[in-house]
Amino acid sequence: MRWGLLVAAWLALSPSPARADIDDSAYQAGEAIRDEERLRRLRGDIEAEREQERRRAIEAAAEAGRIHAEAQAREAARPYPERLTGQACTQCHAAENYTANRHTWLVWRLVVARMVWLNEADIPPDAQALIASHLAASHPASPGEAFVEYGVPVASVLIVAGLIWGGRKHVAAKRRRSARTGTRGM
Ligand code: HEC
Repeated sequence: MRWGLLVAAWLALSPSPARADIDDSAYQAGEAIRDEERLRRLRGDIEAEREQERRRAIEAAAEAGRIHAEAQAREAARPYPERLTGQACTQCHAAENYTANRHTWLVWRLVVARMVWLNEADIPPDAQALIASHLAASHPASPGEAFVEYGVPVASVLIVAGLIWGGRKHVAAKRRRSARTGTRGM
């Protein structure tokens, strides 16, 4: 019984071959290798993610470029007067300011002239004429509106012309009368 205990103690305290097999250094080395592998895998994942991000950024830039090029091509394909109007008339306010309106050429010409004279829009005269023609074609007045827009100035001119003509007739008749009676009149 006593010897048995002694042998057991000796066996327990002496370095046994089984323990020597998994000594600390080997165990730590295995851990280090596993850590290194995990690190390598992690670095690989990060690198792959970065690469994917890079590719996505390149694709996004290409997409933005394509959209921009398409917009430019669409802009270039628009007729010149339309493009000119869009550029000249949206510098100070939205296009909705005038696209809701419908006018004859005459009134569009006056709207453009007002933008230049009163609001100091920087539009050369030939461009003003082109813009007015374009707007008259794309946003024309209805026949009723056209009648008013052309009718009012025509009526005004006729009334003024009539007054002048009537006035001159009146003066001429007065002169004839005064010449007949020998009196000087006016
Ligand atoms: C330099 C700035 C400027 C530019 C460029 C400009 N506008 Fe204006 N526009 C204004 C201002 C300011 C008003 C508001 C005051 C007024 O009605 O005059 C206005 C108002 C208007 C209105 C509303 C009043 C109305 O008469 O019905 C129309 C329509 C209009 N603009 C059309 C045009 C058109 C068409 C062009 C292009 C030829 C143009 N604008 C370019 C400054 C500008």
